[in-house]
Amino acid sequence: MSEQHPVANTTVELASGTKMPILGLGTWQARGRDAAAAVLRALEVGYRHIDTATMYGNEQQVGQAMAASGVPREEIFLTTKLPSSRAGRERATLEESLDALGFGYVDLWLIHWPPGGARPDVWERLLELQAEGLAREVGVSNYSVRQLDELAQATGRPPSVNQIEWSPALFDRAVFEAHRTRGVQLEGYSPLKTTNLRNPRLARIAEAHGVTPAQVVLRWHVEHEIVAIPKSTNADRIAENADIFDFELTPSEVEQLDGFSA
Ligand code: A2P
Repeated sequence: MSEQHPVANTTVELASGTKMPILGLGTWQARGRDAAAAVLRALEVGYRHIDTATMYGNEQQVGQAMAASGVPREEIFLTTKLPSSRAGRERATLEESLDALGFGYVDLWLIHWPPGGARPDVWERLLELQAEGLAREVGVSNYSVRQLDELAQATGRPPSVNQIEWSPALFDRAVFEAHRTRGVQLEGYSPLKTTNLRNPRLARIAEAHGVTPAQVVLRWHVEHEIVAIPKSTNADRIAENADIFDFELTPSEVEQLDGFSA
């Protein structure tokens, strides 16, 4: 498959106009050769969005696999994250990430967890490093809506993305709408881990479309324009998770999944 695969071309637009592929490969708990093989496989089947973090300990493998894939760097949307324990050492941490990855910039740099509160001072430094071109976009992860507002009020610059745990079982309409009205892109992590993939109601929807329960869950994110980063190190499941662009859920199916309990 080539870069024409819809997993590469189906994007959301961040507030700045930057396009971010709606489906990416998550790499949490993918280590060593497994991490490199997963990234290589994902890029081969068409993914153009990879999510890593300093805390995952796999930036070097991720970067090496990206380079080995032959896919031009600028075609790939790459995210990494500042550990909260590194608050105050933002520049050194990002430089270490870039060294490990082997690239001069990342597409998105996130504060991984609130470092004991929203910390607008840390956010200011992310904005400075973005202005220097080391990160095309900056954002946060695991922030509450109130904490997003704190950053926006302090700096006039809301995060472009908030990456939080998200799935049908975790769907919260108020949180969903709050991101939308603030122009903050919601990015969900652990879409599959937080879902009971054996739930009979989910199985019925999957059967109706001739797809797997995991594909239904990922497609539900797409219907809501929420970015999803399913993690897999299995070659078949990496391909399966990207194969969600030739069917659509009906509004009633989306609604059922919104009220889904694990
Ligand atoms: P594996 O890496 O062996 O594929 P999440 O992204 O929600 O955190 O979920 C990750 C977990 O879900 C991993 O254990 C991963 O295992 C598994 N997984 C990934 N894709 C699928 C899939 N299509 N069907 C079932 N399990 C999956």
